[in-house]
Amino acid sequence: MNVQLKQDCHFKNDGTDNFGADILKGLSAHPKKLSSKYFYDKTGDRLFQQIMAMPEYYLTNCELDIFQNKTEELAKAISNINESFDLIELGAGDAMKSSYLLKNLVEKGTNFTYMPIDISGNILSVLQENLKKKLPELEILPLEGEYFDMLDKATGISKRKKVVLFLGGNIGNMESEEARHFCNEVKRKLNAGDLFLVGFDLKKNPNTILAAYNDPAGITASFNLNLLTRINRELKADFKVENFQHYQNYDPISGACRSFLVSLCDQEVHVGNHLVYFKRDELIDMEISQKFSEQDIKKLAGDSGFHILVEIKDTKNWFVDSIWMV
Ligand code: AVJ
Repeated sequence: MNVQLKQDCHFKNDGTDNFGADILKGLSAHPKKLSSKYFYDKTGDRLFQQIMAMPEYYLTNCELDIFQNKTEELAKAISNINESFDLIELGAGDAMKSSYLLKNLVEKGTNFTYMPIDISGNILSVLQENLKKKLPELEILPLEGEYFDMLDKATGISKRKKVVLFLGGNIGNMESEEARHFCNEVKRKLNAGDLFLVGFDLKKNPNTILAAYNDPAGITASFNLNLLTRINRELKADFKVENFQHYQNYDPISGACRSFLVSLCDQEVHVGNHLVYFKRDELIDMEISQKFSEQDIKKLAGDSGFHILVEIKDTKNWFVDSIWMV
C-alpha cells in the first residue's frame, strides 16, 4: 500500500541503477574517484542538514538571505501576472529556501506548478510533507531521479513557460567542463524566453571558504566517510572507515575547493566480488565545490547559450543568484 501510494505521487527513475557500476569505475581510476552525488542517502541527508546548520557553512545563510529578503525581486524576475509557468527545481532538497519564493507566488495568485527534482526520495517525502502544511494551495509534482531524466519528464508535461532553479551552489559540484556541458544541456531542453536561475558561491577570503568545508567538529569528514558506509551496505563491501581520513583543500586562484579521503595504511577492500587495493597515503577524490568570480559566471552563461537577465546577491556579496534567459 505504501509503495502504491508513493508511486501515485512520484515519478521514480528505477530503470537503470548505475550506483554499483559508477563506484567500481571510480575505484579503478587513477587517482581513485567517487562522485559526491552519492553522498545523499538517509544518513547523508541528515549530515548535510547538520552542515547547513554549522556556523562556518555560510552558503545556506547567504542564499536564505536572498530568498527571505529579496523575494519580491526574485518573483518579479521570474514571473509576470498573466503567464502561467512550471517552476522546476533541480536538487530541491527540503525546499527550505525556495519555500519563501513559493509562498510569495502562491499569495499573489500566480498560476504555476512546482516540480521539485531530487535524487533522494527520502528528502522529497520530507519536502512534500512540509509544503503540504505550509502551502496547502500549492500545486506540486515531485520527481525522484537524476536531473536530466527528470528534467525531460518535467519539460514534456506541458507547453508552458519553464523556470528552472538550481540553487545552493550545487553547480559547484561539477568540474568546469562538466558545468558548461550541464548548462548547455539545460538550454537544449528549454525554449526561447525560458529562464534558468543558478546559485553561485563567489570567490572570497580563502580562509572563510576553507573553514566552511573543514569544520573542527568533523561533520564534513563524516559526510565524506558516510559514502564508504553506504558502499559497504549497498554493494556488500568491507571498507574500514577508521582507515581513511578526510583532507580538504582550497585553491584561491582556480576557485576549486576539493575534498579527499586519504588511506591511512596499505589495505585491500572487497566491493562485492571485486578487490580494490589502496597504498598508504593514496587518495580518493571525493568532491569539488567550485567558487566563481563574476567573470566566470558571465563566461559560463555565454558559453552555454544564455544571457544574464538579473543578478541578486546577499548583503555580504558572498553569493549570487544569477537569472539567465534562453
Ligand atoms: C550541496 C553541493 C552545495 O558543495 O557546498 C557541503 C555540499 N559538501 N559541505 C557544497 C557540501 C561539503 C554542498 N552543495
